[in-house]
Amino acid sequence: MNFKEELDAKVAHIEEIIGKYLPEEKGCQKTVIEAMNYSVLAGGKRLRPMLMQETYHMFGGGGELAEPFMAALEMVHTYSLVHDDLPCMDNDEYRRGRKTTHAVYGEGMAVLAGDGLLNFAFETAVKAFGKAKDKNQLERAAEALAVFAQKAGIYGMIGGQTADMEAERRDAEDSQEPVTEELLLFIHEHKTAALIQSAMEVGAILAGAGEEEIRRLETCAYNIGVAFQIQDDILDVVGSQEVLGKAVGSDEKNHKTTYVTLKGIGQAKEEVRRLSEEAVSIIASFPERNEFLEELIRQLTVREK
Ligand code: IPE
Ligand code: IPE
Ligand code: MG
Ligand code: MG
Ligand code: MG
Repeated sequence: MNFKEELDAKVAHIEEIIGKYLPEEKGCQKTVIEAMNYSVLAGGKRLRPMLMQETYHMFGGGGELAEPFMAALEMVHTYSLVHDDLPCMDNDEYRRGRKTTHAVYGEGMAVLAGDGLLNFAFETAVKAFGKAKDKNQLERAAEALAVFAQKAGIYGMIGGQTADMEAERRDAEDSQEPVTEELLLFIHEHKTAALIQSAMEVGAILAGAGEEEIRRLETCAYNIGVAFQIQDDILDVVGSQEVLGKAVGSDEKNHKTTYVTLKGIGQAKEEVRRLSEEAVSIIASFPERNEFLEELIRQLTVREK
């Protein structure tokens, strides 16, 4: 199998896992559940569950222990997109090749669908406790849950989205300080790298990796995450809606400072390359090798969606 075939097979397998954990569309709460499933089932690259699974396997994990966390992380990621697209945030109409959740179900229901996904993510993650085979696995699941919670919250993704919103419309005419590279890195680290760190750290913790290995993975995931967001910002300028499945020009519309506005496309691309090479070298430095994961990180630098 070549890389692309392997990737497609893995995505299909991950979608099966996610599907198993989605709520049934019934009862008086049917509408919000439909909106939740509409958002999750729209597709997407499934990068975070994939990174979790690859890291889990790399450190010798087997069985189903990671599955609830894989589904849960995709739910948190999807909720972050549903809210990110709201008119009060980025105000976008297309996501994953279809109308955004608020465009289809209305703003109120999209807020609730995001809330629902966030909460259901935790309802799902705790199912890992039921899959633990011994006390060791129970302890790992508890440790993983703490990391999962923290990286999604105010010290992770929500913190990054907060700084991202506050950094909008800060330019030369503004009385506030302009956005510096340092602030931009804070934003990227939190709004995007945090969930990538969650993916890789949770995978490693569940597989029983050691403290030092987890710290190295955190740095690796930081590099992947920041590179991923810079590439997202590049594609917002040079990509096409048809391929991306979401509108281009969203950042300019919202007067966002990005790596591209700060440094230009050329340097932004160079930074994606440098960060990703750094990430590959960390991953390749473990005695446990995962060549698919190494190739995945490389492929992200040339992604068009
Ligand atoms: C989009 O994430 C939001 C960012 C952090 C840039 P993805 O590009 O992973 O979105 P999907 O899951 O493939 O739709
Ligand atoms: C969003 O960054 C990151 C999130 C935490 C949702 P963007 O606002 O650039 O993501 P897209 O481009 O809408 O996917
Ligand atoms: Mg945004
Ligand atoms: Mg957005
Ligand atoms: Mg973007």
